[in-house]
Amino acid sequence: MSQEKPQKFPYFAEETSAEVVIARMSPDTDPRFREIMTSVIRHLHAVVKETRLTQAEWMTAIQFLTRTGQMCSDWRQEFILISDTLGVSMLVDTINNDHSGATENTVLGPFYVANPPHYENGHNICLDGKGQPLVVRGKVTDVDGRPIAGATVDAWQTNEDGFYDVQQKGVQPEMNLRGIFTTDAEGHYWFRTVKPRFYPIPGDGTAGEMLRGMGRGTLRAAHIHFIARAPGYEEVITHVFPPDCPYLGIDAVFGVKESLIGDFQLSHDEAEAKSLGFTTPFWKVDWNFALAKSK
Ligand code: BEZ
Ligand code: FE
Repeated sequence: MSQEKPQKFPYFAEETSAEVVIARMSPDTDPRFREIMTSVIRHLHAVVKETRLTQAEWMTAIQFLTRTGQMCSDWRQEFILISDTLGVSMLVDTINNDHSGATENTVLGPFYVANPPHYENGHNICLDGKGQPLVVRGKVTDVDGRPIAGATVDAWQTNEDGFYDVQQKGVQPEMNLRGIFTTDAEGHYWFRTVKPRFYPIPGDGTAGEMLRGMGRGTLRAAHIHFIARAPGYEEVITHVFPPDCPYLGIDAVFGVKESLIGDFQLSHDEAEAKSLGFTTPFWKVDWNFALAKSK
């Protein structure tokens, strides 16, 4: 009696490992999911082979990811922080927001609060009285420079101590340094605030652990966050950075783009300071937004 020959399967081997795993995907797999998983599997296997990863190192990685998940809550998204600090958030943003002529995008960050107060132009969003006074003035236009009336500019930033209001509930006034302004018939908006300062991203979790392991810091270059929106246009999620911040080149989340560095001017003009309710010296920056038409 002759024995049947065993069927040939693509059994697991180092040389073919990624292809063996990819071949297990069902023919019914959603094509986009197949494309992404194929790439993820190939790259993961390549990392393990290239680094000759030890079992102890693999377990360290598993425990790191476990602790990352355990840190996440409604208020804390450690996976996004890891994506931010590895430059992945900025890369996804950059490849998905190429609206030629529009203001460049950058990271949203975890401290955005939906539905902040709407204010009249000129309102001072600094409610804790700390910091160097700043007036922000600008225009929202389309990519050809035509003004957009009724556009909204949503602004938020840390206080002088380097914390967002939501990080210091009960310490800072609620909605400190947040507000939405609406452009007038010529597309102009303006508001009063304080000059932003650099501050650390949360470093007490696994993202901080990873950064320390790589000898990297947790500081973000000073910035004001903005979302500019108008019906019929793509929204722009962006920042303005003062040019004198020493951390522009080592921003922990790679959020700095050259086009987003503003021309902050220190003014000693007594009459203007008085009209703004400021004392001298105070800061000024003109900051415009160009929006691309929705696709
Ligand atoms: C921020 O700008 O608020 C921020 C962005 C990314 C990670 C952490 C903080
Ligand atoms: Fe920020």
